Amino acid sequence: MPERTAIGLFEAIYSTRALRYLKPDPIPDEVIRDLLDAAIRGPSGGNTQGWGWVVVTDSAVKREIAEWYREGWNAAYGRNREEQLARAAGEGGLGRVNYLSAEHLAYHLEEAPVWILPVLRGAAARPNPRAGSSIYGCVQNLMLAARAHGIGATLTTLYAGHEEDVKRLLGIPEDALTMALIPLGYPARGRFSEPKRRPVEEVTHWGRWGERRRPAG
Ligand SMILES: Cc1cc2nc3c(=O)[nH]c(=O)nc-3n(C[C@H](O)[C@H](O)[C@H](O)COP(=O)(O)O)c2cc1C
Repeated sequence: MPERTAIGLFEAIYSTRALRYLKPDPIPDEVIRDLLDAAIRGPSGGNTQGWGWVVVTDSAVKREIAEWYREGWNAAYGRNREEQLARAAGEGGLGRVNYLSAEHLAYHLEEAPVWILPVLRGAAARPNPRAGSSIYGCVQNLMLAARAHGIGATLTTLYAGHEEDVKRLLGIPEDALTMALIPLGYPARGRFSEPKRRPVEEVTHWGRWGERRRPAG
């Protein structure tokens, strides 16, 4: 069993955020196995476990997909960079710091030593708006397990305009969909810290939509 950081569950939850500045240093195979073994403890409808996890380390494959990712990045964010940089987080933009980190990832994606693509069988053949429910619990397990190993990760999807190309390149079955591309690496910059979110009181509805309660105390 590879060494994990002794970290409490809530400490892990409160310090797992997107880390996009990654070192190229390799991640041992037994650590990757440990992350995936934790990931697959997550739930799926009917416990169907219709997933597969593609681990990509080949530089040529990463370079090809990274080009497709950059196309997605440019279409969504890169083409109006100045406007995006000026937009505050939550106001239709990522916020300056996040934008710059996402831009960095877009231009250095292939340098992340390991990518993992969670793949869900049947998701392409039978489109279902809730398909992701049967894998994203696992994906979050993966991110938390990476945190416990001191490995940074980000859930990404900007490659998805080239879904069919990615599937062909990686030999993924036709009925399946890639659900994300998660670049993994030891952090080069940035640290594990609390993700900033709207307050829980603002997003909690007690009994029915719109019913709020004041925080206790
Ligand atoms: C469905 C989904 C798609 C995402 N796609 C990308 C992406 O393509 N590139 C990227 O850099 N981050 C991507 N993210 C990461 C989000 O930008 C990130 O989770 C969000 O900004 C919050 O960041 P934080 O956890 O560091 O606070 C994605 C997240 C989700 C849940």
